[in-house]
Amino acid sequence: MSTTDSAARYSRGSIILHWLIALLIIGNFIGAWVSEDMPRDQKIVMMGYHKANGVLILLLTLVRIGWRLAYRPPALLETLKSWEAALARVTHTLFYVLMLAVPLAGLGLHSAFGKGKPVSMFGLFDFPALPVASDKATIGLFHELHEVTATAMLVLFGLHVAAALKHQFLDRDGTMARMLPFLR
Ligand code: HEM
Ligand code: HEM
Repeated sequence: MSTTDSAARYSRGSIILHWLIALLIIGNFIGAWVSEDMPRDQKIVMMGYHKANGVLILLLTLVRIGWRLAYRPPALLETLKSWEAALARVTHTLFYVLMLAVPLAGLGLHSAFGKGKPVSMFGLFDFPALPVASDKATIGLFHELHEVTATAMLVLFGLHVAAALKHQFLDRDGTMARMLPFLR
């Protein structure tokens, strides 16, 4: 039984990347919301962290996608109903798309607004801006894209967490344990 258990679990690397990226994404939402009520100079500092953190999420997502291609995730639980399995596949795939699209749109917005100024990665090094135009329409487009994709991510997050809680507390089928090595 224990062999089947561990074989049905995500690899350690997938688990670390899942929770690290989840924390950074939650942090970036909170950072963006909190900064809205800050005085201008504090807001600029906070948005500097938001941008560096967002670029970090983009880079870690590329690592995560590479990892996923190298280490196949365990098959979805056989006990899932067909609609649950389909919804899980759609949600997970959309998450990967959005983990790239949200920070890329943010980077596009920064690049257009800052006229090609790089993003300072917590003062350690610079990450290059995207080669985009700096006119009002381009700024507006990336702003809209960043907002719409971030909102879609928030909706998906609600669905994903609700599903995780349903499997943990109603179905009690061990789904959570696949992403948490210490849970049996
Ligand atoms: C923004 C935050 C999050 C993102 C972007 C995210 C993304 C993902 C993705 C893409 C997968 C599929 C992994 C794969 O098969 O490659 C996954 C699986 C999973 N996530 Fe999350 N997640 C987040 C937060 C959470 C939270 C807060 C929970 C728990 C409350 C959670 C619980 C799970 C579980 C249990 C699985 C495994 C599902 C299974 O395959 O059976 N996630 N997550
Ligand atoms: C997964 C990563 C990210 C998430 C979840 C995220 C989320 C958000 C959210 C929720 C907002 C507030 C939206 C609004 O109401 O206007 C916002 C604003 C903003 N984000 Fe991000 N963001 C991410 C990455 C980035 C990156 C990488 C950059 C730039 C390098 C960036 C630049 C900005 C800017 C400049 C704003 C302010 C827009 C305004 O003035 O209204 N974001 N972000």
